[in-house]
Amino acid sequence: MALWGGRFSTGPDEAFKQFNDSLPFDYQLAEQDIIGSVAWAGALKQVNVLNQQEYDDLVAALNKLLDEVKANPQAVAVAGHEDIHSYVESALIDKVGDLAKKLHTGRSRNDQVATDFRLWCRDTAEHILEAIAELKGEFIALAERELGTILPGYTHLQRAQPVLFSHWCMAYVEMLERDESRLTDAKNRMNYCPLGSGALAGTAYPIDRQILAEGLGFTGATRNSLDAVSDRDFVVELLSCASISMIHLSRMAEDLIFYNSGEAGFIELSDGVTSGSSLMPQKKNPDALELIRGKTGRVFGAFSAMMMTLKALPLAYNKDMQEDKEGLFDAMPTWLACIHMAQACIKGIKVNAERTLAAAKGGHSNATELADYLVAKGIPFREGHHIVGTLVQMAIAQGNNLEDLSLEQFKSVHSIFESDVYPVLEIDACIKARQALGGTSLEQVTSAIKYAKKNSK
Ligand code: ARG
Repeated sequence: MALWGGRFSTGPDEAFKQFNDSLPFDYQLAEQDIIGSVAWAGALKQVNVLNQQEYDDLVAALNKLLDEVKANPQAVAVAGHEDIHSYVESALIDKVGDLAKKLHTGRSRNDQVATDFRLWCRDTAEHILEAIAELKGEFIALAERELGTILPGYTHLQRAQPVLFSHWCMAYVEMLERDESRLTDAKNRMNYCPLGSGALAGTAYPIDRQILAEGLGFTGATRNSLDAVSDRDFVVELLSCASISMIHLSRMAEDLIFYNSGEAGFIELSDGVTSGSSLMPQKKNPDALELIRGKTGRVFGAFSAMMMTLKALPLAYNKDMQEDKEGLFDAMPTWLACIHMAQACIKGIKVNAERTLAAAKGGHSNATELADYLVAKGIPFREGHHIVGTLVQMAIAQGNNLEDLSLEQFKSVHSIFESDVYPVLEIDACIKARQALGGTSLEQVTSAIKYAKKNSK
């Protein structure tokens, strides 16, 4: 049964019905719609639209329906109604007859859908926050496991300066912490209840919206009915949080795909997150990571689609806004799956510390140290930079590292060099020197791990 029809002479065309119906996807709001309806029944009792008996009967039927939809959500999707609100009302009529027709008093699908959707977003945000916390924990565990491992650090994908492998891990912990904080902000901002805003102008029943909101776990009630039914900022924010977080995950994926390549050979991914080739028997491909990288585009696509849907929509509700759901319903599980998959990849990583060390020692990534050595001897940095550049050229010409040059060769470029130059060029010294806050020295990385662990509790 449709929720409207009195002013129409004919029903909708079949093609229009298919085009217009949202039940095939908004069935996912069934639980939220029922929970919101229970709360609304309470508000109607408060203003004497429902008496105690009617309220009890309605709530009992709604709870029964809740059990049914939980047991078989897919059955709701194919029930043929216009949307989840129509479905719930009609299922309720089947259970309690005409009494169910009182439930929509003073309520509109506009404030109803806005409420359902916020509840769904809030629950989803909570699940994602849990998953991010777990992924962070996995990175911290890897950082602790690999504390002694030295990795070449890159800029422009050219070896730049050595870093601790754990420093790399903790860089992603930083990103994940920002993801957490952003999502928590978005969750707090969305946690206001539109129910009781009516179609757009507010409800004509003297309902205590604050109590209604608190009953549904909201911080409070929205303050402007026009805004409440037309606001989808919370969807945009959630998709924006998802997009930024996916960018982080895709960068992690890209780093690891490179580290896992035959050319780098820094890590080996576990068999559990890789797959083979149908043709080339030797292949072990980093599919999980490539899919994380690939799905980033899909999540961002949902974000940009939502932005475009909302652009220049007049107040208040417009049917365009039904387009808010499919993108989010796809993007949120995708994001969650990527976080879980990232965790599985991190958990199973085997690091080849010999390969990372050898690579870190190559590429003249101790050249900055040499410039700093000259600074300590009183040579201005820019001049030192130039002198070291000449020495790097010399080392490249003889196919060696800087530490392989003889003292005579050093002296041929500048007489200030002494044999105390050699300890400075050792890789451990490069790491050790980075003692300032946020640097890659063991002390700094250890304290970053400690900080992150404290923050996670
Ligand atoms: N299915 C609709 C949506 O998702 C529910 C709200 C419909 N409101 C209306 N006035 N037609 O946006």
